[in-house]
Amino acid sequence: MADIRRVAISTGGGDAPGLNAVIRSATLASLNRGWEVAGIRDGYNGLLFPENYPDGGVVNLERESVRGITHLGGTIIGSTNRGNPTAYPVQQADGSWVEVDRTHELLGRFDEHGIDALITVGGDGSLTIGNHLHRHGLRVVGVPKTIDNDLDKTTATFGFDTAVGFATECIDRLFATATSHGRVIVVEVMGRYAGWIALHAGMAAGAHSILIPEIPYELAPVAETIQQREARGAKFSIVVVAEGAAPVAGEVSVKGKAVGQAEQLGGVGATVAAELERLTGKEARTVVLGHLLRGGSPTSLDRLLGLRFGAAAVRALDEGHDGVMVALNPPAVTYVPLAEATDQMKTVPPDCDTILTARDLGINFGDQMP
Ligand code: F6P
Repeated sequence: MADIRRVAISTGGGDAPGLNAVIRSATLASLNRGWEVAGIRDGYNGLLFPENYPDGGVVNLERESVRGITHLGGTIIGSTNRGNPTAYPVQQADGSWVEVDRTHELLGRFDEHGIDALITVGGDGSLTIGNHLHRHGLRVVGVPKTIDNDLDKTTATFGFDTAVGFATECIDRLFATATSHGRVIVVEVMGRYAGWIALHAGMAAGAHSILIPEIPYELAPVAETIQQREARGAKFSIVVVAEGAAPVAGEVSVKGKAVGQAEQLGGVGATVAAELERLTGKEARTVVLGHLLRGGSPTSLDRLLGLRFGAAAVRALDEGHDGVMVALNPPAVTYVPLAEATDQMKTVPPDCDTILTARDLGINFGDQMP
């Protein structure tokens, strides 16, 4: 049995439906072992900037704290996707920025709070930081989280199913207005450099073209698909575009980049709509689903996955594991080395059966004339 008295939970990066299920599960599994549980506010900010929090930035999680939260979106302890503690951005007097490594300060704070182990719940950024802290001596277990489904070492991450379900519902609704007005509607969805959300929601809702980062697109085939539909009497078309999709020999659309944050993607939907209007002469509208995909109540699948991951993280610590990430490897939840957790991004294989199915259905990916 591991010598643990107090375990901390941190949620980092973009929130995903199912985070609260992880927090509840990890908390109850820990309390049931007689361990105390500390929830760190906003990634590691609660430890690094306690003065910013009325409760001191680190809260004891008790049974009451996690009661009735499994179905809630977001994270009750907060999150952040800026301010990596290993390369913390600090502005100089002359306005320039430097990155400061605050690892040792952070490790000191874990000590001061009597924290013996950390459960870090996050995507590639948070898991990389978790591995860094592990290499500097902290006992760490990671829990994979992302709506983007882009982590290679786990078959699934919670949040994805909820995001796909909601995107599908939104596209379903857009069919009604697209049909009524005989328009082209371009729906931009999140997913960063992976097209999973666009592919799954687009197919489930019956989109006519789907543009994903894994298949560089041209708009002539998409316009031709729209015109062929028009000729068959279907005056409307739905095009789903992943935010990270890029034209052949072109760039991903980037809205901007704040200091200490990953670049903010977005804008491809509007570009595609304007160009399709020009190519087809049809009226086009753009809908950006954006952060709506991160909200809402997690599906039962995501709740269950979150609950399984949270308890598995505690079991991993109890069994003496360190520097591992819990991962779904159906039917089991297994452990993989944290060091390998973010080695490779999981992207859509262009020859996978889902893509082949879509092509058989006549869905255009912007790479072949219909
Ligand atoms: O990784 C999850 C995600 O929602 C991506 O799909 C998206 O590109 C990004 O986070 C947006 O992050 P932010 O909250 O910084 O806008």
